[in-house]
Amino acid sequence: MSSIAALVGSPSTGSRTVSLVEHIAGRLAGRLAGRLAGDGHDVRVVPVRSLPAEALLGADPGDPLVADAVAAVGAADGVVVASPIYKAACSGVLTTFLDLLPQAALAGKAVLPC
Ligand SMILES: Cc1cc2nc3c(=O)[nH]c(=O)nc-3n(C[C@H](O)[C@H](O)[C@H](O)COP(=O)(O)O)c2cc1C
Repeated sequence: MSSIAALVGSPSTGSRTVSLVEHIAGRLAGRLAGRLAGDGHDVRVVPVRSLPAEALLGADPGDPLVADAVAAVGAADGVVVASPIYKAACSGVLTTFLDLLPQAALAGKAVLPC
């Protein structure tokens, strides 16, 4: 079983990005129509908006919640990165988190941007 970290980069509640990631996470976990349908991956959804804003804006990798989320990406075999598009770029909240990842954090991993 592979481990997957799924980053939700929307700053909004009631977000379509959340719905998209929940759908992808469910399929990766092996759920079909709400039921387990065979072996799936171990999926952890990381809603970046729930991490402490002061640590993200201050680029503080020592914050425990931020460090835990960074470690989840580091330990994953695959990473889903989902963001709304604002002015032809990914969201600022996602950028603050991606900026905290070590330089080679995604090396050798399957990455699905969406
Ligand atoms: C200020 C602003 C700028 C946006 N810029 C773009 C854009 O450049 N390209 C695009 O395709 N959509 C753009 N959108 C649309 C959002 O990406 C879209 O509504 C997205 O689904 C919002 O995601 P959410 O539901 O997870 O918050 C923009 C929306 C807002 C509010």
